Amino acid sequence: MSTFKAPKGTYDLIPPDSAKYLAVRDAIAAPLRNSGYGYIETPGFESVELFARGVGESTDIVTKEMYAFETKGGDRLALRPEGTASVLRAALEANLHKAGNLPVKLWYSGSYYRYERPQKGRYRHFSQVGAEAIGAEDPALDAELIILADQAYRSLGLRDFRILLNSLGDQECRPVYRAALQDFLRGLDLDEETLRRADINPLRVLDDKRDDVQKQLVGAPLLRDYLCDACKAYHEEVRELITAAGVSFEDDAKLVRGLDYYTRTTFEFVHDGLGSQSAVGGGGRYDGLSEMIGGPALPSVGWALGVDRTVLALEAEGVTLELPASTSVFAVPLGDEARRVLFGVVSELRRNGVAADFSYGAKGLKGAMKNANRSGARYTVVAGERDLAEGVVQLKDMESGEQVAVGVNEIVAELESRLS
Ligand code: HAM
Repeated sequence: MSTFKAPKGTYDLIPPDSAKYLAVRDAIAAPLRNSGYGYIETPGFESVELFARGVGESTDIVTKEMYAFETKGGDRLALRPEGTASVLRAALEANLHKAGNLPVKLWYSGSYYRYERPQKGRYRHFSQVGAEAIGAEDPALDAELIILADQAYRSLGLRDFRILLNSLGDQECRPVYRAALQDFLRGLDLDEETLRRADINPLRVLDDKRDDVQKQLVGAPLLRDYLCDACKAYHEEVRELITAAGVSFEDDAKLVRGLDYYTRTTFEFVHDGLGSQSAVGGGGRYDGLSEMIGGPALPSVGWALGVDRTVLALEAEGVTLELPASTSVFAVPLGDEARRVLFGVVSELRRNGVAADFSYGAKGLKGAMKNANRSGARYTVVAGERDLAEGVVQLKDMESGEQVAVGVNEIVAELESRLS
C-alpha cells in the first residue's frame, strides 16, 4: 500500500468489478443510440455561474455540494455536479438548435462531483449516463425517454425498480400553487431554517426527510390540484403513452426533485433494495432552462441514471451480468524460441479479433498455467523446444482438460474455428 488513499467519498473501479460498470454504461447507452441520440462530451468543469443559474441558487447542490474554486487566472469554476446545464450550454454554443432539426437528441456518460456526506450509494465522485432531448414540447418525447430508461434497466435484468411520475406544472400554474403552499407552510410549527426554505423554495420542504416535518405536511396542498388545463392535458398524454408502451409507473404527487429547472413532467426511478439512497435515476422536463442561461426558449426533457447505484441495484437483486470472457486464449511459452513463436501467434489472434493473452516474465510451467487459469481463457497454447522441433504446439481445452498437438501453422485457424 502507498501512503495515499482514494479521497473520502470516492472509490476506484478495478478489475474484475470494473467490467460491470462498463457493461452497465453500455446497456444504458444502447437504447439511446438506437433512438436517434448522438453522443456528446463536455468538460468536467464549467463556470460556477452556469450551475448557479441552471440548477438553482437555493438548491443543496449549489449552496452546499459544489466543488467550486478560483483558478490562478481568476476564473470561478466548479466541477460539474450534473450534466444537463453543461449539455444545454454546449448545444447552444454550437448552435445545434439552429440546424433546423429539433429536437436535438444527445446522450452522455461521465463523472460528476458533489460534496455530499458519503454513505453507501452516495459518493462525492459518481458516474451517470444521461440523455437530453432539446427543443421540442411533445409528450411523446417525455414518454420516449421514460420508456428507454425502463428498457435499459430491463435489458440489464433489473426487476425491483419503480417509476415515480409527477408534473410540476409550468410558469402559469406553479406560482399559484407555490403561494398556496407557502400559506400552508407558514401555519406550521417549523424551525427557522425550514421557514426560510419555505420562503425561497417551498416545494423543497415537501422533500424534508424528518418525521416531525412529514407529519405536519399531511394535508399540504398538492400541485396536482393546481395544474392548469394545458399542463393537465400534457401530463395525461404522457401517462397514456407510457401505459400503452406497457411500462408501469406510480403517480407520486409529492415527487420533488433536487434541481430547480424542472417544469411539467418529472420522474424518478427508485430501487427497493438500496435503502435510503434509493433513486437510481431521475429526470424531467426543463422548459425554462435555456432562457435561464441566456439562450432562446427551448423546451426540453431528459434524464440521468446513476451508474454506481445501478450496479448496487444489480447486486441487491443478485443479477449477474453475462460478461464476455476477457481472454479466450492464453499462450504459455517454454523457452526463448517458443516465446518468439507464441508471441507471433498471440499477435495474429488479436489482429483477427480473438481475445488473447500471453505469459510474460520468465515463469516456470506451473506459474504460467496458474496465470492461464486465472485469465479465464477457454484455451491454452503451450509450446516447448521439443514441440517446436516437431513443428507443433500443444492446445489445451481448459474446460475438458483435453490436450492435442496442432501444427504451428494451423494453430490460429484451429482456434478461430473452435471459438466461432
Ligand atoms: P439527479 O437526480 O441529481 O439528476 O441525479 C441522477 C442520478 O445520479 C441519481 O438518481 C443517482 O442515481 C445518481 N447520483 C446523484 N448523486 C449521486 C451521488 N452523490 N452518488 C451516487 N450517485 C448519485 C440529475 O443529475 C439531472 N441532471 C438529471 C436530468 C437530466 N434531468 C434532466 N435531464
